[in-house]
Amino acid sequence: MDGTKETGMRNVSSHCSINDMFDEDFSRLLDKPKLNIERQRSFDERSLSELSIGLTRVGLDNLESTYSPGRRSGFDTPASSTRNSFEPHPMVADAWEALRKSLVYFRGQPVGTIAAVDHASEEVLNYDQVFVRDFVPSALAFLMNGEPDIVKNFLLKTLRLQGWEKRVDRFKLGEGAMPASFKVLHDPLRKTDTLVADFGESAIGRVAPVDSGFWWIILLRAYTKSTGDLSLAETPECQKGMRLICSLCLSEGFDTFPTLLCADGCSMVDRRMGIYGYPIEIQALFFMALRCALAMLKHDAEGKECIERIVKRLHALSYHMRSYFWLDFQQLNDIYRYKTEEYSHTAVNKFNVIPDSIPEWVFDFMPTRGGYFIGNVSPARMDFRWFALGNCVAILASLATPEQSMAIMDLIEARWEELVGEMPLKISYPALEGHEWRIVTGCDPKNTRWSYHNGGSWPVLLWLLTAACIKTGRPQIARRAIDLAETRLLKDSWPEYYDGTLGRYIGKQARKYQTWSIAGYLVAKMMLEDPSHLGMISLEEDKQMKPVIKRSSSWTC
Ligand code: GLC
Repeated sequence: MDGTKETGMRNVSSHCSINDMFDEDFSRLLDKPKLNIERQRSFDERSLSELSIGLTRVGLDNLESTYSPGRRSGFDTPASSTRNSFEPHPMVADAWEALRKSLVYFRGQPVGTIAAVDHASEEVLNYDQVFVRDFVPSALAFLMNGEPDIVKNFLLKTLRLQGWEKRVDRFKLGEGAMPASFKVLHDPLRKTDTLVADFGESAIGRVAPVDSGFWWIILLRAYTKSTGDLSLAETPECQKGMRLICSLCLSEGFDTFPTLLCADGCSMVDRRMGIYGYPIEIQALFFMALRCALAMLKHDAEGKECIERIVKRLHALSYHMRSYFWLDFQQLNDIYRYKTEEYSHTAVNKFNVIPDSIPEWVFDFMPTRGGYFIGNVSPARMDFRWFALGNCVAILASLATPEQSMAIMDLIEARWEELVGEMPLKISYPALEGHEWRIVTGCDPKNTRWSYHNGGSWPVLLWLLTAACIKTGRPQIARRAIDLAETRLLKDSWPEYYDGTLGRYIGKQARKYQTWSIAGYLVAKMMLEDPSHLGMISLEEDKQMKPVIKRSSSWTC
């Protein structure tokens, strides 16, 4: 329980807005100052170049004068600028209203949004909680709408929760662990609010959410970049929070790979789905969080060591991911012809993958042009499934090279029917069926084929797809996906997920009024309308991490 007194929210000390700095020309977004991880610079200096894009062009003074907090607040006035021809879709006002209904208050202040406001559902389970991952699209919507306070409150509140002692039975969890979710308990008699958090000790399967800490860091950067308020990230509390999260993941062990070893169910896919090992979702978020932390950590006595470890890890991680997780036509053909049982440094088939383990479907699925990061790579095991979140985050974090980013978009276009169908976007492809489903999921009735985490279609992924489309200069793909979502989402009361090979059916056990479906739609709309918003959730390529090897020509042409 959070019995401690709340510290007052710090005043926003410096403001700048990137929103007014870009006209409709989002090619300038790609013109941002580049991150140079080898150069040692002060936080302030880095803040100016990395956290506030385009500052060099307009100057800080100009920015401060152009910022007007709350300029877009209120759901009567959603972020519909008059600068372009987009008419707000009638669904937008409904979405804002639903999003505001999901707000959760702690001692009078909004601190997050509830996972689902579904009164019709018999079983609440933990959908009445504020999930860290679910809050991210809500936070982005509020930031884009000029309402940063709730995001700041959330960041501070979850940071406090990190400080709790966390136990599962008699085992103590790492200090840096962030909760999967928390709940505010209102006592109307005593007029008190208290918090309960879940770090995995109540979660189905008892798995700690590895993604929560990463999303927290990514959100802190989004907040800083969107508001220009550097003071929050610079507080000793936030600096410590970042260091704790990073040191949990950077600690030395028996690893031979720079990727992060994970249990099944430790991320958005929060139940057994055969993603144990090195799942792409976590690796992409890990990479992005490390890069965000690098931009915000101070070069003081405590930060320095952490920064050095981050730099080294990023270097190794990008090499590993770009080399071994990447799959395109050429690479698939190479694996198909792999020799096995090779020993020593000269081995081509380093992980001893047996070509017979390549599933049949992937030969048809792979277009001649295009590619993607596969689900998992570990000794003698490649999970060839396609996962949406990991691939979109890889684009946003520039874990994917520009050529790989283009190839991922090419694949989405080439396999539109399979990955988008009638509702964006499949969480994974393809679904596990029959014997494989039994073995891998442990006969999970919620994860039957083409449902939920097993090939279900999740509207929340729309914002990630849209961001990836804008970053790769292909907004027309996002437009197509948003058009599809607009035919159904409101009518179907914002379901959590859809079922079926085409995503035509409202999910078997899908919650209605699922907050991140609502917020994801709003974020997608606002980003497409004003692509400069992309800056808060995207990182430019770092030339230091250029790939050493080129895998094939399909993504160079
Ligand atoms: C489900 C999802 C998880 C989400 C939670 C709350 O458990 O699998 O990703 O955070 O619901 O919406």
